[in-house]
Order: sequence, then C-alpha cells, then structure tokens
Amino acid sequence: PVVKEIFGLSELEERIREAFGLRKVVIVPGDSEASPLTKKELGRAGAKALLGVMRSEDVVAVTGGTTIAEVAEQLSPPTGLSLKQSWFVPARGGLGESLEIQANTIASGMAKRVGAGYRLLHVPDLLGKEAYESLVGDPNIQDIVEMIRKARIVVHGIGDAMEMARRRKLEESMVQELQNEGALAESFGYYFNEDGVVVHKMLTLGLRLEDIRRTETVIGIAGGRSKAKAILAVLLFGQEDILVTDEAAAEDIVKEL
Ligand code: G3H
Repeated sequence: PVVKEIFGLSELEERIREAFGLRKVVIVPGDSEASPLTKKELGRAGAKALLGVMRSEDVVAVTGGTTIAEVAEQLSPPTGLSLKQSWFVPARGGLGESLEIQANTIASGMAKRVGAGYRLLHVPDLLGKEAYESLVGDPNIQDIVEMIRKARIVVHGIGDAMEMARRRKLEESMVQELQNEGALAESFGYYFNEDGVVVHKMLTLGLRLEDIRRTETVIGIAGGRSKAKAILAVLLFGQEDILVTDEAAAEDIVKEL
C-alpha cells in the first residue's frame, strides 16, 4: 500500500474502475513487458484476485497465454478454504498455442497447486467446420463443454490482435482479414475492434460470448504498455468485473479516457 501511494497507483486504479464500472482494479508498479519481475508481480496479483473470489465449490474457466501461466505459477493453497470440491477447466479449446501456455495445461497446473480438480477439453487446433460439427455431437465433449459454460469465474489474458495472430501462426489470408476487420485485441479466441465489438471468432468449443456475458465474475489479467489499446478494447466490450494490470498499461489506458 505504501508503494502504491508513492506511485499514485491507487488513484489510477480508482479512475479505471469508475470509468468502466468495474468491481475492482489492481495495478502493479512497472511494465511487465520490460521486466520479468513485474510480470511475476502481475501473476501474483492475479492469483490473489482469483483466490479472493473463490468459494469451496466453484468452477473456474481459464484461458492460455504467458500471463495466465504466471498466475498459475504464483498460486498456492488458500488458508481457511478447501478447494477440493472445485474445478478448473479451460475456457476454450485449441487456439494454436504452444503446450506450456495452453489453457488445458494452465487449468491442470492451477488445480494441482490449490488441491482442486480439473477437466480438460481436447480439441485440435484450427478446427474445420466438419471436425467442429462432429466434435459438438460427441457426448464426452458435450459433458465438459457444459461444465465450462457453467463456470462462475473466468480468468483470461488479453493480447494484441496481430501479435496473437502471429504467435498462433494463422494463415496470412486470415491475418489480412483480421486487419481489414479492424481487429485490435484478442481474448478467448475472440477478436475485438477498438470499440470493443467482436469482429471475428475462432471456430472452437468452450465458452461462447453469451456465456461470458452471464458469468458472475470475469477477471482480466494483462499488462505491458503495448497492450494498453487491446485492454481498452476488451474493457469496452464491457464484460469485465475485475482487472489486474500494470502501471505502464494503466497509464496509457487513462490517457484515452
Ligand atoms: O488472449 C490473449 C493471450 O492469451 C495473451 O497472452 O499473456 O502471453 O500475452 P500473453
């Protein structure tokens, strides 16, 4: 708290919280893009925010990415709360990330760290329409997808659209399409323009937009100056309840207010 006052972070938190009608905003000092230590702090703050809202019988859906992977690293069993009856699940399947930062890996990692259970969603990357149709009809897949859609808490990262398209090795024609559509941010496999409107959806299973809209607690965790515009776009989408970010991104977000 003392450090936060020195940097004026509490004031930044309150300005962003008010502007977007959020329940809570947490800002860690520094730029997580420039400093691995800050990224760790971002993960730690994310882990704390998550544990702060969890109940003993919960379903938590998580996305992939390096930031949420850091949240998993920083999780430890909460004191005075058993999570044995809780579940961690991936928010959506197969988005083309490398194994270490896939949602499945992170969901199982988080569950193990806090003594909860996990269920995985095995969906190949970059689904074609036919494969999608046949997977949708599979009873095992239906079972886990149903559980995902009932998640009370969603924890997700936010990325710059073009950066995510490149990292997930989308075809050049798709990257072009995204650019033409004005895609600025990516989260959950959905691409958003600068007004927070979804302009593109990756074909996969798991959380749909209507599920995100009715989720009780949506926690966005993302930092780094270059992500400010992307975070802003997702805030404009309007479904966040808690935002955990860093000083560098927060500074640039308030410039736009
Ligand atoms: O959807 C966005 C990405 O998951 C963000 O990934 O945390 O590695 O930047 P990152």
